[in-house]
Amino acid sequence: MSNRELINRLPKAELHLHIEGTLEPELMFKIAKRNNIELPYCSVEEIRSAYNFSNLQTFLDIYYKGAEVLQTEQDFYDLTWAYLQRAAEDNIRHTEIFFDPQTHTQRGIAYETIVTGIHRALQDASQLNITSRLIPCFLRHLSAEDADKTFDQVLPFIHMIDGVGLDSSELNNPPEDFAAVFARAREAGLKCVAHAGEEGPPEYIWGALKSLQVSRIDHGVRALEDTLLVEYLKENQIPLTVCPLSNLKLKIFDTIADNNLLELINAGLFVTVNSDDPAYFGGYLNENYHALDSALSLSAEQIIQLVKNSFEASFINDSLCQKYLAEISEHE
Ligand code: ADE
Ligand code: ZN
Repeated sequence: MSNRELINRLPKAELHLHIEGTLEPELMFKIAKRNNIELPYCSVEEIRSAYNFSNLQTFLDIYYKGAEVLQTEQDFYDLTWAYLQRAAEDNIRHTEIFFDPQTHTQRGIAYETIVTGIHRALQDASQLNITSRLIPCFLRHLSAEDADKTFDQVLPFIHMIDGVGLDSSELNNPPEDFAAVFARAREAGLKCVAHAGEEGPPEYIWGALKSLQVSRIDHGVRALEDTLLVEYLKENQIPLTVCPLSNLKLKIFDTIADNNLLELINAGLFVTVNSDDPAYFGGYLNENYHALDSALSLSAEQIIQLVKNSFEASFINDSLCQKYLAEISEHE
């Protein structure tokens, strides 16, 4: 069997996926139309051709604008359901989805509208044989006070979520600023994750580990610049959710061949592969694996290990994890 076929057939988990980053231009137009919103684009092609980014911020500016079409619970349901259908095509069996409450509450959309729309679609995902977890992220370009107020809105609906995350513009927005709200989240029994070491320095990975007490690092590719940090991540087997096509489009690395995924693996780190914002970065999960395989000539064993890692780094319980690992072993 070719590696391509192996990748397509293997059951996979996705652990780093922003639901707003799955908004395809076709759905953006459809939702804009029913909400009477005028888009600054005339066609789907024009939107796609605007997706040329020079760094994280130039992407975020366009991405937050795109998310403005989302207004009703049905909009959030449709967005999530479209992603889940696409995920099923990639044999994704488990997904841990991020969403950015403040992107929407800042525009007057109630937190309840957002979370219930997404959660309802995740419940319906049993029809697709997909399990899930849901993780609201705080926007780090906004203040810690704003994150705290957002967490007040999250609490009445805490049964719908599993953790909290931290995303948006990394540079000059260190994790330590959000220590208090993450402490509240931990006290409420939530898991913690944070984007760190995407554009930001290794110190931000240390900050996420020490101040926020995260159990996974989103991206983390700059960890290799700090040997003590590499040692810590290895010792504690802290998962890194690496996103190769995202790294390419946001110019973290010039080419997929330049991505340091193999160096991270060879350093003994716990690496997973993810799609981040697939509607904006030109590929869903399998395309991320295909791109890596083409550029880095992965072995079948490496592909299988990455897929196993995706379940082992997830927030599912042990028995469900064992069930998925048994499904993978049918392909070994
Ligand atoms: N929000 C959506 N995608 C992101 C990324 N790659 N980094 C930081 N914030 C994000
Ligand atoms: Zn991300």
